[in-house]
Amino acid sequence: MKAVLLKEFGGPEMLEIGKADKPVPSDDQVSIRVAATSVNRPDIVQRQGHYPPPKGESEVLGLEVAGVVDEVGAKVAGWKTGDRVMSLVAGGGYAEYAIAYADHLLAIPDGMSFHEAACVCETYITAHLNVFTLGGLQDGGSVLLHGGGGGVNTAAIQICRALTPNARVIVTASPKKIERVRRLGADLVIDYRVQDFAEAVKDDTKGKGVDVILDHIGGRYLAQNMKVLAVGGTLVIIGVMSGPKAELNLAMMMVKRQHIIGSVLRSRPVGEKAAIVKRFAEEVVPFLADRSVVPLIHAVYPLDQVAEAHRLMEEGGHFGKIVLAVDEGLAGAV
Ligand SMILES: NC(=O)c1ccc[n+]([C@@H]2O[C@H](COP(=O)([O-])OP(=O)(O)OC[C@H]3O[C@@H](n4cnc5c(N)ncnc54)[C@H](OP(=O)(O)O)[C@@H]3O)[C@@H](O)[C@H]2O)c1
Repeated sequence: MKAVLLKEFGGPEMLEIGKADKPVPSDDQVSIRVAATSVNRPDIVQRQGHYPPPKGESEVLGLEVAGVVDEVGAKVAGWKTGDRVMSLVAGGGYAEYAIAYADHLLAIPDGMSFHEAACVCETYITAHLNVFTLGGLQDGGSVLLHGGGGGVNTAAIQICRALTPNARVIVTASPKKIERVRRLGADLVIDYRVQDFAEAVKDDTKGKGVDVILDHIGGRYLAQNMKVLAVGGTLVIIGVMSGPKAELNLAMMMVKRQHIIGSVLRSRPVGEKAAIVKRFAEEVVPFLADRSVVPLIHAVYPLDQVAEAHRLMEEGGHFGKIVLAVDEGLAGAV
């Protein structure tokens, strides 16, 4: 099958189209004929050599796919060849066929395109898991989301609006994205390039701080995040774009009874991910199905132009998701 291969770790020019063996599903898996996949920032980190796939998983990049079920493992119930599905995959999404655990599949709602469906699993599930299940955001509570124009955080803003319409949603963004982040539903947008976000959040919350913070910046933001995390609040760290190390004031953390949670989705055990997907299906998929939440697509590239798609993400001008179209014929075929 056709797949994106990596010549060696490095820049986008290391990505090339090549051939790989078509993967064979085990008893509890299905193979998916991939219509579309999308670029996630962890793909960039993997391409650079700093985020290897979990043991036994495909070395091919790609964490989420949308397509149709191609082959079904011997013990799989409830799915059949030809079903329109979207799924998390621990690797292997940038290819004509990918393997997923049956318990990680979601049916693509009627009216949702493959391109849109390719944007759901890694991004929306990450946002839902970390803001709601782990962060515990409640309606009427408050949340700080960093980098509101990215894939995960555009999804997070939308889910916050849908699940907790009365929550105060505060978002940091670069200047060109501020207006679009506001239109997406943020109550307050802070220009992280010129403003001190901690001061802005303190002013906005009258010194109380926010209940939940979703952070992927890491080291450079830790001290300020802890400053504006409310008493009993939860900081969930899902990335370390500015570096992995920082100093922490444990006394302040103790007195304010704050929680810090580190979280990754990809390497969790299969059963844990199945429970995460099930909760997502119950709590978020209904909003995707009635289109009150619609994945935001910034650009679509054919798989052959994967290097361009990676360049676009690294330049940071995108708003929402970058899709890779793998098999455009499939859209018309089902
Ligand atoms: N742990 C997990 O399970 C998991 C899963 C998926 C993703 N992630 C992580 O989540 C993060 C987002 O992934 P993604 O796919 O959504 O990437 P993305 O689309 O590239 O989004 C990254 C966002 O970060 C913003 N940003 C950059 N520097 C910033 C700063 N100093 N302050 C505030 N925002 C800043 C960018 O905004 P501008 O372009 O406007 O500067 C951009 O909107 C990545 O770190 C990724 O590794 C973690």
